Amino acid sequence: MSVTHRIVVVGAGQAGLQLCETLRRSGHTGPLVLVGDEPHLPYQRPPLSKKFLTGELDAVRLALRPAEQLAKLDVALKLGTAVLAIHRDAHEVALADGERLGYDRLVLATGTRVRRLPAPGAALDGVCHLRGLDDAQAIRDRLGAARRLVVIGGGFIGLEVAAVARGLGKDVTIVEAQNRLMPRVVAPLVSEHYARVHAGHGVHIHLNTQVEGIVRAGEALAVALDDGASLPADLVVVGIGVVPNVELAREAGLHCENGIVVDEYAQSSDPAVLAIGDVAWHRNVLLGTSHRLESVQHAVDQAKNAAATLLGKPVPYAPVPWFWSDQYDLKLQMAGINRGHDSVVLRGTPDSGAFSVCYYEGTRLLAMDSINQPLDHMLARKLLAAGVTVPPTAAADPEFELKTLLPAG
Ligand code: NAI
Repeated sequence: MSVTHRIVVVGAGQAGLQLCETLRRSGHTGPLVLVGDEPHLPYQRPPLSKKFLTGELDAVRLALRPAEQLAKLDVALKLGTAVLAIHRDAHEVALADGERLGYDRLVLATGTRVRRLPAPGAALDGVCHLRGLDDAQAIRDRLGAARRLVVIGGGFIGLEVAAVARGLGKDVTIVEAQNRLMPRVVAPLVSEHYARVHAGHGVHIHLNTQVEGIVRAGEALAVALDDGASLPADLVVVGIGVVPNVELAREAGLHCENGIVVDEYAQSSDPAVLAIGDVAWHRNVLLGTSHRLESVQHAVDQAKNAAATLLGKPVPYAPVPWFWSDQYDLKLQMAGINRGHDSVVLRGTPDSGAFSVCYYEGTRLLAMDSINQPLDHMLARKLLAAGVTVPPTAAADPEFELKTLLPAG
C-alpha cells in the first residue's frame, strides 16, 4: 500500500469519517473521497433517540466535525449521492449522478437501515421509523403535539424514545414481540429491571405481542394488536431492529453473510475492498470470534484498524466491544459480548438502582452489563482486555474490588 493511493469511502457516517481523519493524521497524502447518500455532513447518531428528540440538541450540534474542520482534512465530500454499483474489474464505483469514481482501495462503510414494520399501515403518516437525522426530525416535529405515543419494539430505540416521551409528559405504550425488553442484548435480570423502571414511570408495556396493523381513526391512529386490543395513538415510533446494507457488496460478488465478511484487518474477500462499522461481519482476535456490531465504539475502532491496513501497517483487530444506553436516570453500560454465556452472576442489588450483571461461559467472564455502576464498567473493560477473568464468587460480592485483579502496570 502507498500513502498516495486514491481511496474511496462509501458511507459518510461515524466509521467513514473516522477513517478519513485517521488516514490524514497518519500521513496519507493521496486523494480521499467520502461518498454519502444523505445530504447532511457526517453526524452523531446516539443523540437522535435522546437529546435531539427533546430539542436540547440541534442538528448543527450533531455534526461530528464542523465544516471548517472537515475542509482542512482535504477530503472530497460527495453528499446526497448514492453509489449504485461497484465495478471491481475496473476499480470503479458508479454514482447515482452518472459519475464513475476510480479507486485504488475502496472502503465500504454503508451501515444499516431500519427494518420496516411488516404490517398493514406501516407507511401511514404519523408512523415513524428512526434511523437517520431526517427520521428523528420527523418524530421531533410530531412529538410536541402528540398526546399518545405507541412505540413498537422494546429495544434500544424503543426504550430510549419511550423514556424521552415520558419526560415530556406523553402517554406511552410499548409493544414488544418477545417476552422481555431488550431481549437481543441483555439478560432477563436486566430486562426485568428496565420493565420495572419504565412501568414506574407510567409506561404501559405489552410483551409477547405483535402488531397486526395500523389504521387511521379520524385525527388519530389505531394500532391493532394480536391480543385483540386496539391502541389509540397520535404518533407511532417503530424500532424493531436494523439490517446491514450489504447489497452493493453482494452484487459485486464479495463474500457476505449477515454483513460484509472481513478479516481482522477489515479486508473483504477482495483485498482492494475493505468494510468497516455496522455493516462489517468482522473478526476480533481478542474474542476469537466473528460478528457484526452496531456501536459507535466499533465504528471508530475498526476505522482506525482499516486505516492501519491501508497504510501498510496492519494490526489485528482486538478491542473489547462496549455499548451504552441512557434511559431516564439509568446509564446502562455493556462491556464485552455475552453471546455463548451459560450463567450470569448478579453483583449488587437491582432495588438499589445500581448493579452489574456478569456473563460467564464456565468460569470465564465474557461480558458485564453495569447499571449506574460506571466503575464496574471501566474495570470490566480493562479486565476483559487483559484476558483476566473474575471468579464468579468474587463477582457476586459487591464489596470485592475488581481492580485488585488487574495485572500490575
Ligand atoms: P434492537 O434490535 O435493539 O431492538 C428491536 C426490538 O424490537 C427487539 O426487542 C425485538 O424483539 C423487537 N421487535 C422485532 N420485531 C418486532 C415486531 N414486529 N413487533 C414488536 N417488536 C418487535 O433494535 P433498535 O432498538 O431498533 O435499534 C436499532 C439500532 O440502533 C441498533 O443498531 C441499535 O444498536 C442502535 N441503537 C443503539 C443505541 C444505544 O446503543 N444506546 C440507541 C439506539 C439505537
